[in-house]
Amino acid sequence: MTKKSITDLPDDRYAGTPVFVRVDFNVSIQNGKIREDYRLRRTIPTIEYLSRQGAKVIVASHLGKPKGKPVPDLSLKPVADRLSSMLMVPAVKFVGDVVSASVTKTVEAMNPGEVFLLENLRFHPGEEANDPAFCQQLATLAEIYVNEAFGTMHRAHASTYGAAQLFQERLTGYLVEKEMDVLTQGRDHATRPLVVVGGIKIKDKLSALKALIPKADRILLGGGIAFTFLVAQGKVTGDSPVEHDYVPWVQEMLTHYGDKLLLPKDHVIARALDDRTGVQVVQGPIPKGARGFDIGPEATLAYTHELMRGGGTIFWNGPLGAFEEDEFAEGTVSIARAMALAHWRGAMTVIGGGDTVATLRKADVFETEVSHVSTGGGPP
Ligand code: 3PG
Repeated sequence: MTKKSITDLPDDRYAGTPVFVRVDFNVSIQNGKIREDYRLRRTIPTIEYLSRQGAKVIVASHLGKPKGKPVPDLSLKPVADRLSSMLMVPAVKFVGDVVSASVTKTVEAMNPGEVFLLENLRFHPGEEANDPAFCQQLATLAEIYVNEAFGTMHRAHASTYGAAQLFQERLTGYLVEKEMDVLTQGRDHATRPLVVVGGIKIKDKLSALKALIPKADRILLGGGIAFTFLVAQGKVTGDSPVEHDYVPWVQEMLTHYGDKLLLPKDHVIARALDDRTGVQVVQGPIPKGARGFDIGPEATLAYTHELMRGGGTIFWNGPLGAFEEDEFAEGTVSIARAMALAHWRGAMTVIGGGDTVATLRKADVFETEVSHVSTGGGPP
């Protein structure tokens, strides 16, 4: 069976048919409010297409890391409400369960065209364990499987892997198709690839770097991830976050590829995010009791110059500091503006990561000033 797109099935295949759509609605929610809903907006064409064809659209996602049990702060209820306000279809159904008698009843009672959002898949221990019984329960809900979860495609969990295998018809949605196109283009046709990597999901990014480092021309590192590299170089980074397990690997990378890896020479440091009394720029060691919250002015200048040369292909994932706070935003905001300038000079620019998208707003850069804003690489 080959992978097909949702538009490859005959229109009448969907009428009254339950369709399971795995999306990535892992968005950042604070005090019950969604901070950034780009990932939701990008799934609207697929959900509305299926709804218009008369499918019963069962949407499923994870949110955060609740570790197999319900965590009220990680409920998808606010997402269901936001989704309802975005769709041109009747209100999204939500019963607050992943699999249960009430979920089954709701699916059975759905009218063609209706949309039903399941509760956070990771509230069930079977999701991350890719448990066969849970896979079966998910697969029983629908007849057709649609993969629209680009940001989660690297996870072999029940909803992304085990359950998907149990469907005869597995399709990709518009978002996944577009993302895969851009990725393939980037992989096969990237010229002088330059990669900017920041953010704090250090473990995830280090493994992505394994693939990127040998291929890229230049890699500019900032944010939390840079400190593991600085420590591997023998630098003193105070209380900044460091993945000590990865230091030997990073040392190996520095030995082989050191000439293409750029690390910040200076930092904006503070004692804590909520203790700004000692905010200052340091060039040398970061003292104990302090940590880096942004790249410093010298690093910002060096990085933006690299980016603004124009031409080539530039990928950016993850902010260079705690940009939500004005004192620590300069590095990230400057990178966002340099990305836009590189785009206008002819570079292909791709950015990803929920927070990276939010940085565009902070920098007053329009989404149309980058070639592609990916939904991959999510919130911290
Ligand atoms: C993401 O935001 O990176 C994806 O949704 C995957 O989330 P995870 O890292 O919690 O598996």
